[in-house]
Amino acid sequence: MENVFIMDHPLIQHKISMLRDENTGTNEFRKLVEEIGILMGYEALRDLPTELVEVTTPLETCMTPMISGKKLAIIPVLRAGLGFVNSILTLVPSAKVGHIGLYRDPETHAPHEYYCKLPENIEERIAIVVDPMLATGGSACAAVDFIKQKGGKNIKFMCLIAAPEGLEKLHKEHPDVQIYVGHLDRCLNENAYICPGLGDAGDRIFGTK
Ligand code: PRP
Ligand code: URA
Repeated sequence: MENVFIMDHPLIQHKISMLRDENTGTNEFRKLVEEIGILMGYEALRDLPTELVEVTTPLETCMTPMISGKKLAIIPVLRAGLGFVNSILTLVPSAKVGHIGLYRDPETHAPHEYYCKLPENIEERIAIVVDPMLATGGSACAAVDFIKQKGGKNIKFMCLIAAPEGLEKLHKEHPDVQIYVGHLDRCLNENAYICPGLGDAGDRIFGTK
């Protein structure tokens, strides 16, 4: 599928396996999410535009590439997306951070928005939407719809684990969005949880139940 990138790096796979383990506690879970976010961010930002700038080394002056003016916006879907924010900021410290608050209705699994604040000039930025779980795809589609309504054009989506159903929905509704997936899992269960998955990502990152 064009614009869909499923990671196969052994470090990412190993760390996702550790996350899945029900015995992995909150502290370790949060650290692993951040580490995987750095590894995946490295891939997801591989096409950032660069421009040649003049730098003087101790030996001579040369033209050398630096990330060019296109500003990056990191947009976590609350709550669980917060786990990836520091990962991307580690790679691009000058990025701005927007937030989209969505929760899934426990009965219908439909997303409900409760908060949205995006950086200025979103239409000029590369927006990377981060959320560990792509289950039915409802939250990811709502987040991308919202960013497009506000003028966003260049959008990426990054998740740890996707269900085939959610990946298909997001790709079908937004074929222009580049989707980065740590691992593609088997299916959704009757409660729209990803199987085998890792449980509720928000609860595991923040230690709630
Ligand atoms: C989780 C997850 C995604 C969403 C994915 O959030 O972080 O945002 O579910 O499911 P979907 O693809 O079916 O929409 P949740 O609604 O549990 O909120 P939380 O992060 O606040 O716990
Ligand atoms: N949200 C989660 O946190 N986990 C799932 O498996 C599905 C949605």
